[in-house]
Amino acid sequence: MCGIIGFTGYLDVKNVLLEGLEALEYRGYDSAGIAFFEQDGIKTIKTTGKVSNLIDKVEKNGNNSTCGIGHTRWATHGGVSDTNSHPHTFGNVTLIHNGIIENYHELETELAKQGKYPVSQTDTEIAAMLIDSLYHGDPMDTIKKAMSQLEGAYAFCILFADQPDVIYCLRNGSPLVACQSKEGSVIASDMVALIKYSKEYFVLPELHIAKLTKDNIEVTNFDGEIVIPQKLYVKWDMSAARKGGYEHFMLKEIHEQPSSLRSTIMPRIVNGSLPDLSGDGIPDTIFDDINRVIITACGTAMHAGLVGRVLIEKLIRIPVTVEIASEFRYQDPIMDENTLVITISQSGETADTLAALRLSNENKAKTVSIVNVKGSSIARESNYVLYTHAGPEIAVASTKAYTAQLSCIYLLALQFAKAKKAISDTECTSFIHHLQQVIPAVEKTLFLEKELDEISSHLKETQDLFFIGRGIDYPLSCEGSIKLKEISYIHSEAYAAGELKHGTLSLIIEGIPVIALATQANVYSKMISNIREVRARGAMVILVTNGDIALDSSIFDYHIALPELDDMFTPFTTAVVLQLLAYYTTLHRGYNVDQPRNLAKSVTVE
Ligand code: F6R
Repeated sequence: MCGIIGFTGYLDVKNVLLEGLEALEYRGYDSAGIAFFEQDGIKTIKTTGKVSNLIDKVEKNGNNSTCGIGHTRWATHGGVSDTNSHPHTFGNVTLIHNGIIENYHELETELAKQGKYPVSQTDTEIAAMLIDSLYHGDPMDTIKKAMSQLEGAYAFCILFADQPDVIYCLRNGSPLVACQSKEGSVIASDMVALIKYSKEYFVLPELHIAKLTKDNIEVTNFDGEIVIPQKLYVKWDMSAARKGGYEHFMLKEIHEQPSSLRSTIMPRIVNGSLPDLSGDGIPDTIFDDINRVIITACGTAMHAGLVGRVLIEKLIRIPVTVEIASEFRYQDPIMDENTLVITISQSGETADTLAALRLSNENKAKTVSIVNVKGSSIARESNYVLYTHAGPEIAVASTKAYTAQLSCIYLLALQFAKAKKAISDTECTSFIHHLQQVIPAVEKTLFLEKELDEISSHLKETQDLFFIGRGIDYPLSCEGSIKLKEISYIHSEAYAAGELKHGTLSLIIEGIPVIALATQANVYSKMISNIREVRARGAMVILVTNGDIALDSSIFDYHIALPELDDMFTPFTTAVVLQLLAYYTTLHRGYNVDQPRNLAKSVTVE
């Protein structure tokens, strides 16, 4: 969602802010703005549309300002307009904000009693008005008072007109990371905007305040005590956050999968035959009294969870439910200390998943999260974390994070099965062997790219499309469907193939594309019957199989043969095919692959 960057130091701040906003563009936004100190006060420039529009508005020469804040806005309260864009100024206060102020209406009513009215329709401007109304020259005291009145999730960077070259920041729920470098002090909503300055950074703890001056970042808690946040390091560098010769981040990230899988899987295998999560600090004892598992996540991460359900139930024979995180806490879920709750999140900041985790912690469930972003809220608040080492994922459509999440679920399920003595040593060795085989198989699947590009060209004019599959192919159908629709804007639905004839078959008409996943031997003949049902009604069938098996050519138009794997491991290769289909279909339709409309990379509001 919204991107935040703040800088005070020894560089021209306009360049720093604009570069930072460009780095944050991937998060999804609809307007952008910056504010910086000049000799005669704070200057603000903002506009709807892309950061490039903002760059056109910013004078290249002018004063060499060295302190300011920048923002990309993803509209929640108030439409997309220059006025609603951030930064917002009221009196002495200029600020940018990520999150939602839930009680803004009550605050607005109170401020109106003092004769103060906003010019925008945003909750953010109300926060600026509140802070200004509380300000009498002491920023820290003012911020603390404001925090006690603001409800909701937020991250703010604030400039006070009479405190030149200082940025005050606070957070509650929405992420902020900061670093100190020889060029100055930098704060941002994510690491991608900081990496240029330092690989060492820290996460601003919740309900803490950071005061950024040129040579120092001072962090204090609500009681005013100085706190030294834990230092974190990223292994990747600027080149990992750039396109590296690929036309789009999504394509680059699809191609990074062999390497991201290697980094996620290999360090967690000992002697080539055993899972080992001790490096992650996950002891076998956590599985001791577990009698049920709940997996909760959103979107693609939830689809990884659906695969996890099949796997855990098969290996361990205990019940697993997968819950959409945005529904979870409103369902009065049943859980206790014998429940293992697995939350999955690339960003580690998804508001609904975080809320589901907090509820699970309150109910004393054992919580393990599978997260990509180090030090993120979900990682910090879980009892245990299994990091995916996928590196930065920039494209809005999740690809390498998804397969890395799958690999963590496979490892976790195996460790769990071993701890419960649900599998023999031989089965464990064989599982590890098959998991390692996934890496070269994904490499080989990438060679299908040209073929998938060609097949996708036939989907260019499509309005509706179906994905069908049985068993573990059903969650993959869900994933294929979300991937395609989110970037190509083709309406698609995922169906368990046996369910089609209970209603949906009426939508199958001449020429409608059906992507049929038939990778599972135990339901293969049933799947073929379902394919015949759609074929008989004129569907254009794109068939995906595990290996190049003999087929009746009358049942498909296009056949994609995956490199052969043990059936339980095909989700990895199937996912790559579905990602490439979505990618190339979108290209053929001429849409922006990396930044689809209305979507944001990290969904930090409910
Ligand atoms: C789809 C996609 C989203 C995310 C979802 C959860 O390609 O990326 O569906 O999977 O918003 O995000 P995280 O994993 O950051 O919690």
